[in-house]
Amino acid sequence: MLKFSTHKDSLAHIEADITLVFIIDKNFKHKWIDKSFLESLAYKADMPLLHQEAKTLYLPIKQLDKDCVREAGAQAVRYLRSYPFKKAKIGFYTPESSKESKKQGIPNASAKTAIMAEFALGAMLGAYCYDTFKADKQSLSLCHIAISLETAESKQQDHAKQLAQALEAAIEEAKILAESVNIARDLVNTPPQIATPKYIAHTAIDHAQALQISCKILKKDALKKEKMGAYLAVAKASNKSPRLIHLSYAPKNAKQKVVLVGKGLTYDSGGLSLKPADYMVTMKADKSGACAVLGIMNAIAKLKLPIEVHGIMGMAENMIGGNAYKPDDVLISREGKSIEVRNTDAEGRLVLADCLSYAQDLKPDILIDFATLTGACVVGLGEYTSGIMGYNQALQEAFEQSALESGELVARLPFNRHIKKLIESKIADVSNVSTSRYGGAISAGMFLGEFIREEYKEKWLHIDIAGPAFVEKEWDINPYGASGAGVRAGVQFLRDLVSRG
Ligand code: BES
Ligand code: ZN
Ligand code: ZN
Repeated sequence: MLKFSTHKDSLAHIEADITLVFIIDKNFKHKWIDKSFLESLAYKADMPLLHQEAKTLYLPIKQLDKDCVREAGAQAVRYLRSYPFKKAKIGFYTPESSKESKKQGIPNASAKTAIMAEFALGAMLGAYCYDTFKADKQSLSLCHIAISLETAESKQQDHAKQLAQALEAAIEEAKILAESVNIARDLVNTPPQIATPKYIAHTAIDHAQALQISCKILKKDALKKEKMGAYLAVAKASNKSPRLIHLSYAPKNAKQKVVLVGKGLTYDSGGLSLKPADYMVTMKADKSGACAVLGIMNAIAKLKLPIEVHGIMGMAENMIGGNAYKPDDVLISREGKSIEVRNTDAEGRLVLADCLSYAQDLKPDILIDFATLTGACVVGLGEYTSGIMGYNQALQEAFEQSALESGELVARLPFNRHIKKLIESKIADVSNVSTSRYGGAISAGMFLGEFIREEYKEKWLHIDIAGPAFVEKEWDINPYGASGAGVRAGVQFLRDLVSRG
């Protein structure tokens, strides 16, 4: 992990191999900006620019806000991956006159601290690379970023001290967040022949021990006892038996109880309704919801949030074989509702139906599931945005706000009574697929809603992370592959819940 240090000294007095400088707009003059160099390069504001002789990396950003600075942190680290620099330094100089600052939307000192910590978060998340199976690892030479706190405001001594303390605390929290996102990324990226339900259960136990939280594992027999007929059907054809993982963090000062549920398909071949070859690739990422839950549990336990949080990870593998569940099967779920299977590739909702039933027995104040549930959500919102669904508008809005604040993109997808009719079955209580090819993300969400009891309808949120969970190219602060989608949004939502009281 990258190391960060804060310094009261001006940038010039800090020893480093390279200086990082933001350029917010072309006309901004500052001693750290070599305008003639930028002009000689016909400077374009979308890529880092290295000034070799001056040992300066310019980071053009649209504005000095959290989203831009976080992304610039990731870009800087990615750029420096091909250079031998070990230590970088950065300052956050902005135009000094407050009139000028206001005009340009330049934040005040405490907002600036938050922005600097966001830069650190971006750098840590941008430094991630899944190279376990690569012989030629492009390891990052950069290991230390020194941040100068010298700003117009910090020239007063006590202000400088306050600023340093606030920044150091914020960077510690950013480290916890980055570590949590990277736990999810690592596990999602791990290939499916290794990351089986059993392997993930062991990983969860290891984390729980380190975090001193409890972890209960339900194997096949326990799932039978729980009457999880839908979940068990999905897992049937695989020789990797299912595991329901139940993590609990219960601090003494807890004011509320939140239960998080994650879809954990360690592989989704589609089952007998087999996926076409091109669509099957990347389906190791169908465990992203469960992995996000593990990441969130890590963060809240380390941040010591005063809320009780349970994490339920429904791990299984959706395969083919003589024992596979079939289209036309009718399953009896844990809630007692019967389900007509019309497509075995709509398996996540079956696993979640039973996990959500188990979760409601824990009597949550808030219940949230994270799942790579539908391709339709990716078609609708694009691959960078998660869908938020549920029955409670205010709760959806709260999650949307927290997610956006955290830097994750989300959008609400509204349920409606017409779509609900599309999942009716002639022979069972509900069908696992819609009769229409349109609105698939919503019909899947409404299917889950069928398993939420009346008293929990207003307490439940469904987050479809199928788009951003795994993208086969670099984007924002994310590398190729798993992004850890859901972790930052989930943690921010829980922190906001605590601060709202
Ligand atoms: N795991 C997939 C959804 C998915 C698709 C996630 C693409 C990430 C990227 C899910 O189990 C699935 O296959 N859903 C089907 C549902 C359909 C059969 C009603 C889908 O979206 O096509
Ligand atoms: Zn599927
Ligand atoms: Zn799936």
